Amino acid sequence: MNLLVTGGNGFIGSNFINYWLKRHPKDQITNVDFLTYAADPNFVPSFGSGDSYVFVKGDIGDRPLVERVTKNSDAIINFAAESHVDRSITDSTDFIRSNIVGVHNLLQIVKDRKIRFHQVSTDEVYGSLPLDGKEKFTNASPYNPRNPYSASKASADFLVRAYHNTFALPVTISNCSNNYGPMQHPEKLIPKTILKAISGEQIPIYGNGSQVRDWIYVDDHCSALELILESKNFGSTSLVGGENESSNLETVRLLLRILGKSEDLITFVQDRPGHDVRYAIDSSSFRKETGWSPKMSFKEGLKATVNHYVSRRDYYIKRLKESL
Ligand SMILES: NC(=O)c1ccc[n+]([C@@H]2O[C@H](COP(=O)([O-])OP(=O)(O)OC[C@H]3O[C@@H](n4cnc5c(N)ncnc54)[C@H](O)[C@@H]3O)[C@@H](O)[C@H]2O)c1
Repeated sequence: MNLLVTGGNGFIGSNFINYWLKRHPKDQITNVDFLTYAADPNFVPSFGSGDSYVFVKGDIGDRPLVERVTKNSDAIINFAAESHVDRSITDSTDFIRSNIVGVHNLLQIVKDRKIRFHQVSTDEVYGSLPLDGKEKFTNASPYNPRNPYSASKASADFLVRAYHNTFALPVTISNCSNNYGPMQHPEKLIPKTILKAISGEQIPIYGNGSQVRDWIYVDDHCSALELILESKNFGSTSLVGGENESSNLETVRLLLRILGKSEDLITFVQDRPGHDVRYAIDSSSFRKETGWSPKMSFKEGLKATVNHYVSRRDYYIKRLKESL
């Protein structure tokens, strides 16, 4: 397969490239990434031969560039996006440009070429669940995005669905819960907590830390994406979750326990405006269709994640400073 990956210098995209080339060493991956502040500019795959990977710096909204790099593509998987909710609250301009206009550009090319296309989306498009309820997001849940990031991702999903319905394109969407693991930008909760804890700095937690997220190890997300890309269930939406709910406070406490650090480092700060209180995905339909299940336990996944950031502490602290 000749695969175009977009956003492959970001957290999930870079893990996906490693995952894919390890299992499909004969495939060819072209990675188009705009190298925003969130990208790891030094990323190179750990697997595959020199011939199996090509990097092209570019914007998914640049039509001539995407047309050129997709000349021989069998499929496109789109990870490229602005992904940080806090930044979307400060200024959503880049979120509209990359997450909506960029996806529209990809879809126009997919329409012309009839290339297989997968849109990597988020559970945040469904909005927020009650904190104390048992309800989870399912394929029947209505979209109810509540911040500019999730609204931009929901808009892109609607465009993908509309292009499938109107032009019968070979497209799919997946809505996944919160990922964690190596190579995530250090502005996000888990890497930020690890880096602050090992530097002996206060760890900020929004509000009272009761917000619940459904954490999935990034490789488990990649294995789900592999099954979806290989499927022919065009027009479908797959809900992928870790079935592993943990409040932000519990997650930070778990990390501090792994690191052997005191909970005195926790500082509660003013809550994010419009903060969604709980996300939870019901993946039973995807599990039944494909036999997929998440393999990594939260405890083991967090330990592996801690080891990654501790061993590259200086690099991530530098990246965090440069992105502020
Ligand atoms: N991180 C999560 O927990 C999570 C969960 C579910 C879904 N998602 C989705 O998965 C995708 C990847 O998320 P991530 O956490 O890896 O994000 P990330 O911010 O770590 O990486 C995004 C990458 O996209 C690149 N990019 C941004 N705009 C671009 C553009 N216009 N053209 C080309 N490249 C561009 C950036 O340079 C960066 O390398 C996103 O679409 C996100 O919405 C993320």
